Amino acid sequence: MLYAFELSGEHGELPRAEVLACLDIAGAVYSEHAFFDQCLVVDIDGICGIGGIDEIDSTNCSADIIDKKMEWVAERLAFSHHIVKVAKICDTDIDTIIEMAEKFDVGKHIVAGETYVVRAKRIQHNTRINGANLEGRVGGSIYRKGYSADMKNPDVEFRLILTERCVFGSIVASIDRSAYEVRSPQKKPFFYPGVLMPRMARALVNFSKAGEGDLFFDPFCGTAGILVEAGLVGADVIGLDVQGKIIGGAKMNLEAFLPDYSLFVGDACRVPLVDGCVDAIVTDPPYGRSATIRAESLDHLYAHSFAEMYRVLKSGKIAVVVSEQPVEGFVRDAGFVVAETYLQKVHKSLTRRILVLFKE
Ligand SMILES: C[S@@+](CC[C@H](N)C(=O)[O-])C[C@H]1O[C@@H](n2cnc3c(N)ncnc32)[C@H](O)[C@@H]1O
Repeated sequence: MLYAFELSGEHGELPRAEVLACLDIAGAVYSEHAFFDQCLVVDIDGICGIGGIDEIDSTNCSADIIDKKMEWVAERLAFSHHIVKVAKICDTDIDTIIEMAEKFDVGKHIVAGETYVVRAKRIQHNTRINGANLEGRVGGSIYRKGYSADMKNPDVEFRLILTERCVFGSIVASIDRSAYEVRSPQKKPFFYPGVLMPRMARALVNFSKAGEGDLFFDPFCGTAGILVEAGLVGADVIGLDVQGKIIGGAKMNLEAFLPDYSLFVGDACRVPLVDGCVDAIVTDPPYGRSATIRAESLDHLYAHSFAEMYRVLKSGKIAVVVSEQPVEGFVRDAGFVVAETYLQKVHKSLTRRILVLFKE
């Protein structure tokens, strides 16, 4: 079954990578079908193993079970808008789209008596089609099949994603992006500059594949932006920072969102945890600009803190590190395999590197 993820335009690669990480966490059995501008289409065969709902035999997986699991995936995602059950993919051409809507087997997406609305989303420069006009015409085809439209409170929202091709289907789940705004750094009880925004923090947590009940560690936790996102997906979070006043602020922020957490004042070069006890690490070490560094030098801090991250992480698990500096040499010396690297331009003089590291 094809599902389309309507991606945010915040980055060219991160939203797609986040979807794939969340499908892995959900235990989806899938292959990538197509990747368009701000739209990833995957073919999901079934769901098995870990993540949220019961264990399900992937060979015996109904559309309803996959739809339900997509609701769970939507709860985790940060860089997507909607998850759409795909009815058809066609050329982004008005006549082709209308013909497709006329032939469309609507019964797989809406049941008798339910109401609907059709909404078109034009992705950047990919089309000049008038979205409102198209919504009306496709809505008319569905109306002629015997269903009633409801613009304000429909049971089913049909989506036309107009990108390099037109991806048409019904929304099975939407990402509550406003929830991330509520957790923006300035709205939290304690604010300190140099914080990651919650959507980025959540995407990094997703890259780490941290799951419910996993032990999650941030050795440079600052004001706990990453820990809050990890705790909200059900991980047991542990944070460390060298500054007592920052740990005090992290406590205030965690208190506002999580029932349980652990925090320590300490040095990331000497972590008070036993070997191989942590399931996932996400961290944003100081870059040597404005954030406080408590170490002989930045090189010393990186060499020793990455060695400590490697030591406390379980084998087969992931650490995600954000840095402005090229830290690949340090992480490899510590023993990690660099699985993925992403660059994110924050402003003219700051490009972040996001490294997804694997401990074999
Ligand atoms: C870039 S900030 C982290 C920001 C964090 N992601 C947040 O959301 O607030 C880096 C943090 O590393 C801490 N730090 C500096 N040297 C440290 C060390 N040796 N061990 C542990 N933490 C250290 C600083 O106090 C600072 O809070």
